[in-house]
Amino acid sequence: MSFLTPRLFAIANMISDREVVADIGTDHAYLSIYLAKDKRASKIFATDINEKPLAVAKNNIMSFGVADKIELLLADGIEWIREKDLKISSCIMAGMGSGTILKILEDDCKNIDCYVISSNTDVEPIRKWAKSKKYFIEREEIILDNDIIYEIIKINKFAGQKIKTKEDLIFGPILYKTKHNQYFLTKWMEEEQKLTTLLNQIPKNEKKYKEFLKRKNIITKMLKKENSN
Ligand SMILES: C[S@@+](CC[C@H](N)C(=O)[O-])C[C@H]1O[C@@H](n2cnc3c(N)ncnc32)[C@H](O)[C@@H]1O
Repeated sequence: MSFLTPRLFAIANMISDREVVADIGTDHAYLSIYLAKDKRASKIFATDINEKPLAVAKNNIMSFGVADKIELLLADGIEWIREKDLKISSCIMAGMGSGTILKILEDDCKNIDCYVISSNTDVEPIRKWAKSKKYFIEREEIILDNDIIYEIIKINKFAGQKIKTKEDLIFGPILYKTKHNQYFLTKWMEEEQKLTTLLNQIPKNEKKYKEFLKRKNIITKMLKKENSN
């Protein structure tokens, strides 16, 4: 399907066959439609907090002929999953900021096995949340879409990589340990540059200085190791 952007395609690739999926903040519902057409998901609950995107989603779903597989819901977050006592194998949250995603995750419940998350902002707070819950990282991808680099992560409650170190939190336990692609390196070279600029601007006795320096040193160490390989 040509309408699927590289980001949405990478998210779809994290869904296995015959899953029951929740697509929170579906907007146009393109991802849900792809998952339905591709037969990857057996059932999809596509939700949005706003009525306007849901009306667009409804039109798109009808024109692609997948209304039998996708249930549209006007809902805020994921509380409805527990209320309806549904079993969701993967709950997708994409195209929102980490603050909104973390707020939604406050309603995490045992009815959901995995989360596939593609945040518009820094992913580290999401990894922190997963670590605090003792959940695992099953998959991680870093991709380029429309000149923006996105990290996409699949959190699994039962299996995967543990988040153990500061490096795991910053870079991601899988992305850190596997061969680094050009987007991974670009992202962290840019972050290193940003931190260098910041460190030149704030007084050394400020608390933030120490935090930024520590973070920069971790990034520099990783990049140096990469260059020596
Ligand atoms: C930028 S769109 C992302 C669409 C699609 N998921 C994607 O990644 O391309 C974000 C959508 O999330 C919806 N949204 C924001 N907060 C939400 C919440 N708490 N619960 C459900 N939907 C929400 C918005 O109404 C909007 O349609």
